[in-house]
Amino acid sequence: MAENQTITLSFPEPDIALLTIDAPNNNVNLLSRAVMDELEGQLDEVDARGNVAGLILRSGKPGMFIAGADLKEFIAWIDSTSDEVVSVARRGQQLFSRLATSDYLSIAAIDGICVGGGAELAIWCDRRIMSRSNKTSYGFPEVKLGLFPGWGGTARTPRIIGLSNAVELITGGESLDTDTARVMGLADDVIEAADEEVAERLVEAAIRMVRAEQLSGDFRRDRQRWSEPISLSETELGFLGATASGYIQGQTKGHYPAPMAALELMLGATSVDLMTACEMEATGFAELFGSAVNRSLLNVFYLRDRNKKDSGIAGQATPGKIGSAALIGAGIMGQGIAAANVKRGIRVTLNDASQDALARGVQGILSEVSYNKKSRQTDVNRTLEMAPLVNATTVDEEICAADVVIEAILENFTVKQELFARLEPQLREDTILCSNTSSIPITKLAEGLKYPDRFCGLHFFNPVRKMPLVEVIRGAQTSDQTIATAVAYAKKLGKSPIVMNDGPGFLVNRLLLPYMNEAALLLSSGVAIGDVERAAKTFGMPMGPITLYDVVGIDTCVHAGRVMLDAFPNRMVAAEITSKLFEAGRFGQKNGKAFFDYNHRKKGKGQESPVVAEIIEATVTERQEFTSEQITERMFFPMLLEATRIIEDNLVRDLRDIDLALIFGIGFPPFKGGLLFWADSIGPATLLEKLKPYEALGKRFQPTGVLCELAKDGKKFYDLATNTGSKP
Ligand code: NAI
Repeated sequence: MAENQTITLSFPEPDIALLTIDAPNNNVNLLSRAVMDELEGQLDEVDARGNVAGLILRSGKPGMFIAGADLKEFIAWIDSTSDEVVSVARRGQQLFSRLATSDYLSIAAIDGICVGGGAELAIWCDRRIMSRSNKTSYGFPEVKLGLFPGWGGTARTPRIIGLSNAVELITGGESLDTDTARVMGLADDVIEAADEEVAERLVEAAIRMVRAEQLSGDFRRDRQRWSEPISLSETELGFLGATASGYIQGQTKGHYPAPMAALELMLGATSVDLMTACEMEATGFAELFGSAVNRSLLNVFYLRDRNKKDSGIAGQATPGKIGSAALIGAGIMGQGIAAANVKRGIRVTLNDASQDALARGVQGILSEVSYNKKSRQTDVNRTLEMAPLVNATTVDEEICAADVVIEAILENFTVKQELFARLEPQLREDTILCSNTSSIPITKLAEGLKYPDRFCGLHFFNPVRKMPLVEVIRGAQTSDQTIATAVAYAKKLGKSPIVMNDGPGFLVNRLLLPYMNEAALLLSSGVAIGDVERAAKTFGMPMGPITLYDVVGIDTCVHAGRVMLDAFPNRMVAAEITSKLFEAGRFGQKNGKAFFDYNHRKKGKGQESPVVAEIIEATVTERQEFTSEQITERMFFPMLLEATRIIEDNLVRDLRDIDLALIFGIGFPPFKGGLLFWADSIGPATLLEKLKPYEALGKRFQPTGVLCELAKDGKKFYDLATNTGSKP
């Protein structure tokens, strides 16, 4: 076997060809250009041999069929011309279509992940057999990258599983498990076997299928049927088009064009034959490829991939193993973090100064981990299974026996320091101590510690079960070993940790507050709440900043705002409205009133309040007119400029961490690729121009050194990244 060879051809029986895909030195199989060339060569060899009754395609990697096209090549081709993209799509279609036009029956024997280009290769086969395992899944996630399948997926899938199923599968981008794939008609047979026997059983089942179809010839009739137009009445088409487009519009809010384009393509291609549908697909694919949204989503893909591989430190350190965690403070955060541990099978010791809070904490943890999403009820069996993992205690010895001790008590420096002074002497040498503080500097908290090297910030977001981000904050004396352990631990909890140096507001709050504060200042310039909210949502934020104030809580925002004001008095301006709301007892959704009034019977949605209108009115000094573009710029430029100061202060190891943190931490729109990626799409020089009209508002709008440098050199922010993965 040649070095770097991915596909091998063998003949388990004289007339059965078996292609095994197994990329060397890689734990995933990808359809790179080189692998496509190999496939072509192997199919030529099968054709040359003749007298082949069946060809079986399988992977040599357990639990991994094919993970799709090679996205690194996509990035490299991102500036290709439309003709070049069309020819790449056409080439894949032509190659795969050989599996549906050959003399033999072709079967994809699927164990593990079968997505994207892999799912297209499989859909071109006459038949698919899938293993029933929790790793096996089938799907077309291309829309998540701003694309749709381009190697025949949109043309062939509706012909096999029906238009409605195909629309759901391709425009939704979610993968199906084996049973659902079977019901939909994607899988023609399902194999159940012990892990070590799956590969063998799949091939046996495929050979049985070849023998049966040699007699029946069913696949030849299917080929004929699937090469023709799809017969659907105008009414059926109209109904499907209307319901699907309404649903897609609701999901994408018009920000993600690919699902709608896929829908329109599939509806339009019902009346033509398969190969014409493929032509339409290739042209449509080229229109999406390289678009701004495609570039942004590819960037997000790379940001996530980079984060998964990041150990959190530049050098080498073996992270400590975390099998048990202690949570001090059984409030909102303590419960959320504890539940995340229990869900991953990590034993938790819970402590609180208040016995009542401790009892409520255990209840809260168990009810969260026992919640069954499907039945929307508490699963008592799960409660019984998980309960032994939670130990509520007031005994220090039990707390200090844990591999990691996380403090989540009230936000008070002295109380936290007293707690550390009490616990630290009792900790094991290899235990790490973490604080979930949202605003107290980690270096300051470490001041009284004997071993500040074993201490770091581990800042989870609320609600923990929903928020993937964890800020891992390095104090001045935190060791690499502690950071590596904290990062590995956060990943074990299923979170995405971002490591940063200590600084006011850490990362997300430091960027979020200037944006929210600016929104409140706009109200004092006479802008309507609705206009502020609309501008943010049109930009792509999941909710407007005013609603966000109410969700986070006015008290929390006022406190966090004060931290920022103390840290950066020369540029921060406090919005008067928030402290007035606080004084009026309007604390947030939690007490039913803040910027909006909340009626608990109508969950979530707030109503504008005449009291708030008066409070705002009293702060208006000069009423001004703003376009929606100006409102957007007013809110997002301070956020961007603050991000450039984070770069200047060397708070992050790579500026792309800022982009990922905001996507995960505040829902910054992925279709914009990240804050700095978005800034690059405008360009530093243009940004300087755009900032000019706002500079009179104060220092917070003044261009920073790094921005000016980039503009002068004609460079972009991503040029400063350690290695550039994507191009805006
Ligand atoms: P909480 O008020 O819900 O819970 C705090 C718990 O700590 C209470 O049950 C209290 O009885 C207990 N406690 C107070 N002093 C204690 C002591 N000396 N020993 C043991 N237990 C003690 O507070 P929450 O919201 O859970 O916040 C906890 C920490 O997490 C704070 O530092 C906060 O800044 C931070 N944080 C809060 C977020 C939020 O959205 N609530 C988000 C991220 C961080």
